[in-house]
Amino acid sequence: MGKGFQISKTVGIVLIVVGAAAVATIIALSVVYSQEKSKNNEVKPTAEVATSVPPTTAPSNEPWDQWRLPQTLSPQSYNVTLWPRLKPDPTGLYIFTGVSSVIFKCVEKTDLILIHSNKLNLTKSVTLTEHGGKPAPSIDWTMMYQKTQYMVIKLKESLTAGEIYELHTEFVGELADDLGGFYRSEYVDENGEKKVVATTQMQATDARKAFPCFDEPAMKAVFHITILHEPGTTALSNGVVIDEGQITVDGTLVTKTTFAATEVMSTYLLAFIVSDFISIEQTENNLQIRIFARKEAINSGQGEYALNKTGPILRFFEDYYNVSYPLPKSDQIALPDFNAGAMENWGLITYRETALLYDKNISSNGNKERIATIIAHELAHQWFGNLVTIRWWNDLWLNEGFASYVEYLGADKAEPDWNIKDLIVLNDVHRVFAIDALASSHPLSSKEEEIQRPEQISEVFDTISYSKGASVLRMLSDFLTEPVFAQGLQTYLDTFKFSNTVYTDLWDHLQMAVDKTGYELPKTVQEIMDRWVLQMGFPVVTFNTETGEITQEHFLLDPNSKPDRPSEFNYEWFVPLTWTKTGTAKPNGWLLEKTAKNDDLKISANEWVLANINVTGYYRVNYDEENWNRLLNALQTSRQSIPVINRAQLIDDAFNLAKAGIISTTLALRTTLFLDAETEYMPWESALDNLDYFYLMFDRTELYGPMQAYVGQKVEPLFKHFTDLTDWKDVPKGHTDQYNQVNALRVACSTGLENCTTLVKNWFQQWMENRDNNPIHANLRSTVYCSAIAAGGEKEWDFAWDVFEKTNVASEKDQLRAAMACATKPWLLNRYLTYTLDASKIRKQDATSTIISIASNVAGQPLAWDFVRANWEYIFNQYGGGSFSFSNLINGVTKRFSTQFELQQLIKFRDDNANIGFGSGTLAIQQSIERTNANIKWVEQNKAAVLEWFKNPS
Ligand SMILES: *[C@@H]1O[C@H](CO)[C@@H](O)[C@H](O)[C@H]1NC(C)=O
Ligand SMILES: *[C@@H]1O[C@H](CO)[C@@H](O)[C@H](O)[C@H]1NC(C)=O
Ligand SMILES: *[C@@H]1O[C@H](CO)[C@@H](O)[C@H](O)[C@H]1NC(C)=O
Ligand SMILES: *[C@@H]1O[C@H](CO)[C@@H](O)[C@H](O)[C@H]1NC(C)=O
Ligand SMILES: [Zn+2]
Repeated sequence: MGKGFQISKTVGIVLIVVGAAAVATIIALSVVYSQEKSKNNEVKPTAEVATSVPPTTAPSNEPWDQWRLPQTLSPQSYNVTLWPRLKPDPTGLYIFTGVSSVIFKCVEKTDLILIHSNKLNLTKSVTLTEHGGKPAPSIDWTMMYQKTQYMVIKLKESLTAGEIYELHTEFVGELADDLGGFYRSEYVDENGEKKVVATTQMQATDARKAFPCFDEPAMKAVFHITILHEPGTTALSNGVVIDEGQITVDGTLVTKTTFAATEVMSTYLLAFIVSDFISIEQTENNLQIRIFARKEAINSGQGEYALNKTGPILRFFEDYYNVSYPLPKSDQIALPDFNAGAMENWGLITYRETALLYDKNISSNGNKERIATIIAHELAHQWFGNLVTIRWWNDLWLNEGFASYVEYLGADKAEPDWNIKDLIVLNDVHRVFAIDALASSHPLSSKEEEIQRPEQISEVFDTISYSKGASVLRMLSDFLTEPVFAQGLQTYLDTFKFSNTVYTDLWDHLQMAVDKTGYELPKTVQEIMDRWVLQMGFPVVTFNTETGEITQEHFLLDPNSKPDRPSEFNYEWFVPLTWTKTGTAKPNGWLLEKTAKNDDLKISANEWVLANINVTGYYRVNYDEENWNRLLNALQTSRQSIPVINRAQLIDDAFNLAKAGIISTTLALRTTLFLDAETEYMPWESALDNLDYFYLMFDRTELYGPMQAYVGQKVEPLFKHFTDLTDWKDVPKGHTDQYNQVNALRVACSTGLENCTTLVKNWFQQWMENRDNNPIHANLRSTVYCSAIAAGGEKEWDFAWDVFEKTNVASEKDQLRAAMACATKPWLLNRYLTYTLDASKIRKQDATSTIISIASNVAGQPLAWDFVRANWEYIFNQYGGGSFSFSNLINGVTKRFSTQFELQQLIKFRDDNANIGFGSGTLAIQQSIERTNANIKWVEQNKAAVLEWFKNPS
């Protein structure tokens, strides 16, 4: 799956700072973890629905109480016919009906068939037949067992090992709007008509919601799919269409579309979709590439960018993997309702609209980057993941980490001018450092038996799997060198195609590549990688330029915390080292012990040492104070001698080392002093990210003025730089320069730089006067809207609301919805808050994020808190069942809390509403209390020094 949590750079919160307040999350996450542990031990009551004769034995440890399938049966092929109804039945229910046969081999004698089935009702008795040989045993009883999501079929006699059988089922299921299994998505078309799309999301465990199947990734089989659908609609699936015709079923004329048999594949990669979407296509080397979406989107050219980039990215991966694309076609489709960012179904990739559709006039360059990288991510899976599949979900990190790494390589081929490979450091490495530095983090790899239930499987789709997976694979590819890495990858794919692996299979093939090339490593691939994969966290490596000592230590953000779990390697790593002395590269080496000595490290006058060049290693770096001072000096006097990625690293490492109490907070602040000369995006973004926490803690205190003055003074030259470059009539050429232009505008306006506020006021004014002719560049819109609404009043707000209500472009709606939260007049914010509980004004799915946006605004924070407290009962009852996320809401509204008074209010809120409850926000209340305590402590310890520093920065 693509990352669901990725948000585009410029859509979202502007002006207001939201971010990785790492200190704040320390405690929160350790609560999550301990809760998780206790959850795993609890025994849930079982519910079962018997459709025939239920078993009489106590249901404590029957075979169907096991979450994993027994190895007695092995599926070979399925014939599945499904008929989704796009109109509700007389009771208002949307349903689909289905007929499915699975041919399986009995591997081991058994009188029990366990096959996954969830929320399906049988409409006919199940039948079992034998393919050749003597007749199949007759069925004793059948039961739908809800707890483990099995259909259980007890036979009167045993199946015979080595024989082939066929199980036939007929069933009905609900085509619900629950975004899982076979589900429905709704939208309003260009004529204002409501349309229904039937679509699928199987990963990880929902294929069993579409038809009975052996729903584990290693139970690969061939699938013959047939879809019945309303004439006039189109059916799509993994394979190409081999037959299409009209037939009459139960008096209804339907189109019957039959698809070619799939390759041998896992159930979680199946997809079928019925819609009235249209497509654009092109053919490359006999491969058909199509992009599907709503008619209106395709007709306005929104699929073109994706179509343009798919061919080059596919060709890149064919070369990189040295395996040609395994299927005869590649379809990609944008869906109005989709949970994750995208899903790599084999040959039919599904996306949310913003992850595939690009509109030249409305989408920003951040939207464009997201599209290029997500396409690359999903196409990478067509081999790594789909052709060769992990055996079980405990190795998910390998699948997702790999795709999350090579998405940068694929996108780099599609957009060679972007330098996109550098951005993995901000987007993945720094992002996951914040989480992996907590005592409650967890290792990449889990044991197979630890990941059993569907909710445990869902939990492994987290930032650790994606971003840490990507970071350590990037490190591996870097120290092996890319040709060696690619060579091992190629033999791995070739050896295991159409089958399954565990992650050490990849290590074996990389080792073979290492041995073959005679490349020298101090340890085996497996020995090195075990340290990064089997233990959580990462080291901070200290380079002492006085003593020449290099030392590693497990880096924990909270210096008082202790890792929850022991490590067989004692929290030591085999660390690939790269460093330079005053810009001159040294040979790379390894840190294989806790401490090593290298006299080369010692510096003489004016020299400095910089380590972890380009942050290819998954570790933070600390230095002795003298070297820190020299690096800070180099940043201010000759910053070009430090690579741009490392300028971002020095800031991020320093702020995090300060949070962990390893260096002082003022030393961290000093890493931002050079920014008045800096024009590059990465260092700026890193600094703004880290300063976010200071804003959250201090923007309601006397520190606000000096802090704003400091940041304003740093950003003014950047604003001038972009004024000189573009006169704000255009955007700069460079991709990351465009991002930094947005930063310049956002921060200059938020710190009150007059040239900036005048500029955005005038733009917005012009737009209000001529609304069909928006003069603001798409990249800058979120920021400009937010600044103009913050500076303006009712007129500006009402105008934004009116456009919001009328536009039918999803990304424009999102931009405006966030910008309206930037208002500063309390009555406007209060009115907006009441709109969030009116579904005719703000869609239910957007209510939480709107309240959170308002709370992110320093003026909106107390209003949102009052609003949530006053309306808790209503919110809880009205939104309790849906996708309304109480935990995000509670965390969002309370994240600034840093005083005793706020702590008392929070505790009172918890106690006052104990009878109503907090549903999915129960844990978040506890987390917020703990986070508030941590914030109080941090503010106490740092406020005086920080105030002093901002008054007199040096
Ligand atoms: C499944 O469909 C294929 C292709 O239509 C056909 O050859 C095969 O006999 C069918 N098998 C079953 C069990 O119906
Ligand atoms: C399946 O059966 C249950 C229990 O009788 C019923 O509530 C549900 O609506 C049925 N589902 C469908 C799609 O018919
Ligand atoms: C797609 O490629 C065509 C042909 O090169 C080009 O004219 C068009 O501008 C491209 N579209 C987008 C959105 O990049
Ligand atoms: C570091 O990254 C920059 C920018 O991508 C690149 O030009 C440079 O070659 C890299 N340095 C090393 C030592 O790989
Ligand atoms: Zn993925």
